[in-house]
Amino acid sequence: MKYIHKPVLVKEVLKYLNLESNYNVIDGTIGGGGHAYEILKNTIPQGKLIGFDRDPRAIEEAGKKLKKYNKRVTLINDSYQNINKYLNKNKNGQRNNLHINGLLLDLGVSSAQMEPEEPRGFSYQSKEALDMRFGPDTDLTANYILNNYKKEDLIKIFKEFGEERLATKIANKIILFREETPFDAASDLTSIVNQVYRSRYSGRSKTHPATRIFQALRIAVNNELGVLENSLENILNILPSGARVVVISFHSLEDRIVKKFINYEAKECICPVEIPVCRCNKKKKVKIITKKPITPTTLEIKNNPRSRSAKLRAFEVI
Ligand SMILES: C[S@@+](CC[C@H](N)C(=O)[O-])C[C@H]1O[C@@H](n2cnc3c(N)ncnc32)[C@H](O)[C@@H]1O
Repeated sequence: MKYIHKPVLVKEVLKYLNLESNYNVIDGTIGGGGHAYEILKNTIPQGKLIGFDRDPRAIEEAGKKLKKYNKRVTLINDSYQNINKYLNKNKNGQRNNLHINGLLLDLGVSSAQMEPEEPRGFSYQSKEALDMRFGPDTDLTANYILNNYKKEDLIKIFKEFGEERLATKIANKIILFREETPFDAASDLTSIVNQVYRSRYSGRSKTHPATRIFQALRIAVNNELGVLENSLENILNILPSGARVVVISFHSLEDRIVKKFINYEAKECICPVEIPVCRCNKKKKVKIITKKPITPTTLEIKNNPRSRSAKLRAFEVI
């Protein structure tokens, strides 16, 4: 099976990472290595890249893609949540004897993971078992959620992570279905969503309604929002002053987490307005680089429709 993924907002990633020759960069979600390749090209001759991915297949594919630069690349099959574990601090505050200049997080799934033939059932067009784990680092699968979670929890997942307005109807059908047969293949779930939507989905809309349900389950299985929330603070502690961080999100809740974090950390003081002298002792930890999120151009969306929901935010560690 071919691994195909077109990186999004490439020019913008390079611009906001503010790359220079010999810069060292962490790619927290290396995927097929598309962004990483461009980063390495822009940090010649000696810039190092440390790439993380939860998906062992992504690590393998990134290895192939970055072969030309392999002396400058380290690949680690783990979550960006655990970056800390792999970067030992030396006396000068350097990590793995490197001064890290930038970090990229390109969140979510790759196009390759969304292929219907991909054995983990990420796509509503898949006929594979509903697994949806990015990597073997968790036991929770989408099938487990569908077969065991209470109706209220299913509704919450579909509403919150999928913004699905028919969440209750879909959850009701799921409960009825699983009383007869346990969920197995992705097509079981797609046919339930199709039944609920029957006449409501004309087929003209760009997004099939099952896309939202599959996305919601994937986010729940991999605790994607929790991982992001827990990692941002950690990233601040790892990176030296001056390092740039670029985050690309594809989901409004992800973008909200990033925005909230940046705005909070960019504040000098969080005292209530009625207190004339600051007592909170809060320190400003980041400088905001992108006041508004950067989005793809119409041309990029035309050439790569998957990019249409991408939002890029960047900040600098103080
Ligand atoms: C949008 S793709 C990245 C594509 C990549 N920038 C490229 O140019 O090929 C997102 C990748 O993040 C990985 N991923 C998701 N959550 C992760 C996490 N917590 N830690 C590391 N990788 C993660 C997925 O497995 C997927 O390969």
